[in-house]
Amino acid sequence: MTADTPILLVVHHTPSPPTRELLESVLAGANDPDIEGVTIRSVPALGATIPDVLSAKGFLFGTTANFGYMSGALKHFFDTVYYPCLDAVAGLPYGLWVHGNNDTAGAVTAVQKIVTGLALTQAAATVEVTSGVDATARDRCYELGATLAVTVAG
Ligand SMILES: Cc1cc2nc3c(=O)[nH]c(=O)nc-3n(C[C@H](O)[C@H](O)[C@H](O)COP(=O)(O)O)c2cc1C
Repeated sequence: MTADTPILLVVHHTPSPPTRELLESVLAGANDPDIEGVTIRSVPALGATIPDVLSAKGFLFGTTANFGYMSGALKHFFDTVYYPCLDAVAGLPYGLWVHGNNDTAGAVTAVQKIVTGLALTQAAATVEVTSGVDATARDRCYELGATLAVTVAG
């Protein structure tokens, strides 16, 4: 890693052990030892800042489904960074994972509206996990993390 290694910023809302498992799988994939030339930075959504976004070359967003929408934490993040970062992030790649009990569609749609406004480019299929976190869910999250890391490493 060098000072100018591109940064993949992981912005997530992780309020429970199952969602922690998904985050750890995403980060394990992003930090796959076979992937070089990218720095992974993971920040909780309520702590992610405008400078975090401006320093990144790609994004992974993780959220729970809450009341048919993304979590308030991730929404707060987008509310904070949207206009200050609008020009800087256009065209950069992103990926998304969502965890819910039974219906993640509203959360996915909500994030898609915002990233469309930011003109981010989807670099991997969205991972939607409902109920229990099993090996398949962990593998999909690993793949998501690895795909974004390879994309940002270029
Ligand atoms: C206030 C609240 C609203 C929720 N709304 C939804 C929802 O609309 N759709 C859904 O699939 N899950 C919903 N859930 C479930 C959360 O997504 C779930 O608790 C979260 O992903 C963490 O998973 P866990 O409870 O298995 O640890 C909600 C949970 C809470 C506390």
